[in-house]
Amino acid sequence: MPATLRPGRLLAVVVLVLQPAGSLGIQCPAPDITHGQLSPAQNFTYGSTATLKCDAGYIPVGATTTVRCLSSGRWHPRVPACTLGHCSYPPLVDHADRKPQREFPVGTTVTYSCRSGYTLLPEVSPTTTCLKNFTWSAIPKLCRKARCPSPAIRHGRELGPGKAEYAFGDQAEFQCDPGYVLRGNQRIQCWSDGTWRPPVPYCDKDCGPPPKIANGQHSASGQEQFPYGLEVKYSCAEGLSLIGDDSVYCTSADGVNLAWSGPAPACRVVRCPRPVVERGRMTPQRFTFPYGAAVRFSCDEGFVLRGDAESRCLADGAWHPPLPSCQPVLCPQPQVANGRLKSTSDSKTWYQTNATVAFECLKGYHFSNDGDLSSADSWTATCLPDGSWTPLPKCKEDDADVCEEIHHIKEVFECGVPLAEVKNLLEIQKLVLEIKKLKAELENLNE
Ligand SMILES: *[C@@H]1O[C@H](CO)[C@@H](O)[C@H](O)[C@H]1NC(C)=O
Ligand SMILES: *[C@@H]1O[C@H](CO)[C@@H](O)[C@H](O)[C@H]1NC(C)=O
Ligand SMILES: *[C@@H]1O[C@H](CO)[C@@H](O)[C@H](O)[C@H]1NC(C)=O
Repeated sequence: MPATLRPGRLLAVVVLVLQPAGSLGIQCPAPDITHGQLSPAQNFTYGSTATLKCDAGYIPVGATTTVRCLSSGRWHPRVPACTLGHCSYPPLVDHADRKPQREFPVGTTVTYSCRSGYTLLPEVSPTTTCLKNFTWSAIPKLCRKARCPSPAIRHGRELGPGKAEYAFGDQAEFQCDPGYVLRGNQRIQCWSDGTWRPPVPYCDKDCGPPPKIANGQHSASGQEQFPYGLEVKYSCAEGLSLIGDDSVYCTSADGVNLAWSGPAPACRVVRCPRPVVERGRMTPQRFTFPYGAAVRFSCDEGFVLRGDAESRCLADGAWHPPLPSCQPVLCPQPQVANGRLKSTSDSKTWYQTNATVAFECLKGYHFSNDGDLSSADSWTATCLPDGSWTPLPKCKEDDADVCEEIHHIKEVFECGVPLAEVKNLLEIQKLVLEIKKLKAELENLNE
């Protein structure tokens, strides 16, 4: 045994020594129990017993709750403790679920949520709490089937009997009043979140049936609804012409009211007479000329189109614009400087193709063909099919011939003719020309 004693060991020795002598006055200590106490609560003398009472919501740890005060001044068994109690699983609630959780100590609050298709009843709390007596606080009815608002629509009605209330899964089908067209889906269903899917449709105004026409039909026959934007095409019975626009649209002029875009066309027999243009041809070649038929015209050679080249058969059976005519191509009166027509009876403003005219030059002029002297005293030109003339003559001043003459004399001189002789020749030439000139002036004066 070691020489030094520890204080704890010393105390035990003291207790052991005191025990037999003072066993009558022995008291056990009042234990400090959290969440509980012993009953009775005091006067814990040797041999007395006490029972553990836990606070509400707490339970004793271990099976024994009764303790005895021993002669040693200790409790036996050791004073137990109190621990927080638990509730069992919370009750099941119709159409509701809770978070997965396994331990439910007193005070635990569990929250429920309604299953899909169900909604929480108004003004109820979806919770329950584990009470101190280990039961769950009462839970009222929490969930009911989801409800959708009444799907009533204006200008239409629900097909079938209809219901006072619509719950999740209920369906509704609609029909619009005459003159209205359904926009959206005809059949809808009440969804788990209390909304309609697809959304509730509505009834939109429509144009009503398009006008009927005699001897014709439209593409919407058999149709019952005529919504905004609908196009209706008209066609005529065989052999009849459609007069007017062949289609109408359901549209709106004021943004509110719907109406057909225009009057319906008419079906009539329309025949234009075969277009005849003398000296002309038409394309395409055709043999019937109903309303709307268009033809183009052209003229034979030597003729020119007067009027519009294309014409169309109108509803009143007339050609529009009026048929053109083919007029012969004409040549304008030919003008020759210093020349004139040989015969005044030939003088016209316009000449037809193949017409010929004869020219002569004025006095003091003569025909000239690009420098070559021409002795001809007549020249003819012909009017061509394109409105032009065959080449017209040129009339040159006679003086121009003097130059030619000098040219000639120069050549003679260069050939070695004696100068005196050339001089004489020139004198004579000069005299001749002067006589010529005087003669010409005299004649011009006479005219
Ligand atoms: C304690 O118990 C004894 C005997 O059981 C009794 O005589 C005594 O009066 C009690 N004391 C008190 C304070 O209750
Ligand atoms: C538990 O306690 C609550 C309120 O404290 C009471 O309404 C209920 O009846 C108790 N349950 C039991 C089984 O004693
Ligand atoms: C002009 O003459 C030609 C040749 O003789 C003839 O073929 C043509 O038909 C004539 N034209 C007219 C418009 O008379």
